[in-house]
Amino acid sequence: MAQLWGGRFTKETDKLVYNFNASISFDQKFYKQDIKGSMAHVRMLAKQGILTEKERDEILEGLGSILLDVECGKLEITSEYEDIHSFVEANLIDRIGDVGKKLHTGRSRNDQVALDMKLYVRDEITELDGLVKKLLETLLSIMEENVHTFMPGFTHLQKAQPITLAHHMGAYFEMFKRDRGRLADIFKRMNTCPLGSGALAGTTYPLDREYTAKLLEFDGPTLNSMDSVSDRDYVIELLSALSTIMMHLSRFSEEIIIWNSNEYRFVEIDDAYSTGSSIMPQKKNPDIAELVRGKTGRVYGALMSILTTMKGIPLAYNKDMQEDKELTFDAIDTAKGCLALFTGMVGTMKFRKDVMENSAKNGFTNATDAADYLVNHGVPFRDAHGIVGRLVLYCLEKNISLDDMTLEEYQAISPVFQNDIYEAISMKTCVEKRVTIGAPGPDAMQQVIALNRKYLEEN
Ligand code: ARG
Repeated sequence: MAQLWGGRFTKETDKLVYNFNASISFDQKFYKQDIKGSMAHVRMLAKQGILTEKERDEILEGLGSILLDVECGKLEITSEYEDIHSFVEANLIDRIGDVGKKLHTGRSRNDQVALDMKLYVRDEITELDGLVKKLLETLLSIMEENVHTFMPGFTHLQKAQPITLAHHMGAYFEMFKRDRGRLADIFKRMNTCPLGSGALAGTTYPLDREYTAKLLEFDGPTLNSMDSVSDRDYVIELLSALSTIMMHLSRFSEEIIIWNSNEYRFVEIDDAYSTGSSIMPQKKNPDIAELVRGKTGRVYGALMSILTTMKGIPLAYNKDMQEDKELTFDAIDTAKGCLALFTGMVGTMKFRKDVMENSAKNGFTNATDAADYLVNHGVPFRDAHGIVGRLVLYCLEKNISLDDMTLEEYQAISPVFQNDIYEAISMKTCVEKRVTIGAPGPDAMQQVIALNRKYLEEN
């Protein structure tokens, strides 16, 4: 049991207490960030004359060698230490002797862990952003290829109006684009350096907090030392953004599961992303999509957990906050895994364009356009709605579509219909007439695709 404290204690910590309190099993995940933060701290201490240049260089070399040895597997992080901070400091003292004991001058584990967590979250935001961007690139390629691929658009999971596959994918593109915006906002808001806040009330050393912040690429130091050590807002914001990403992935997964079903057959998930059944030889299951949908609950759980943990914590640092790590790490890893797999699945999925188009043709998705035809010939919309409703009823009885009706049958219900009704309600017309920005019409769609291409190039 290696601890950084003990001077005022007369008894050894109970073993169970030690294990309950220790965080090394999980905070070892940010060993790199911990060492990087210590290096900046030491540079600042020397610049301020608190350490000599020789001491600085010895400590930096010691820290560098620890980092290297951990990285190549020569030095193992073991549960012999209470946390990652103790591990690094103890190893430093082992390697360079007494000068290592000066590392923690003007620092507390409270501002140290606040820094480590921020550095870790900041790095992960960059990775997450890259993964969301890859998904956006995949979606945009599908959009570019499918401006003319017709499919039914749904409301209430009932066929509503014809759209295109590009348009449907475009909806998800917008969602994930907003997700990137949220990640960028969090990065910007959280990018202040807590180091130098000490345990809660700053320190008596003449630290240059601006300098440390600059070394670690923060926009500046945090402005209240109590808030610095007890702020986990950025963790909550990230978990909230991850929950929204997962919610989007989950909705998309749900659609893919439906589209991949034997009834729909709109898509076929690639063999590499499907799984079989141990008993039913014919099965090819969309397990990846189901797992992504399922794991969403886990990320929501992390958000609820940290919100609940934080709600009763008086200022400043309290040990409750150690609970932020495992769930945040798990949520980040879960979201990253889901994003990568989902992108692979969507990128290799086959869209059955003929089935989609056929489905759009059979389901009265052009009924609104038939009503619009009547309106264009002077019939008030409410009356037109009623007339087309009767057409649909007639078709349902005869088991045909609007396109299959003869002109005589049309005219028997309303004499306004002429031969041009067929063109007016053809799938091509229905989609191409929707020309306003954001609509599925090919011209409008091409404009949006160009804007989003530019967005991806610039962001
Ligand atoms: N393991 C602790 C955490 O994750 C580090 C900070 C410990 N500070 C303290 N005063 N016990 O929050």
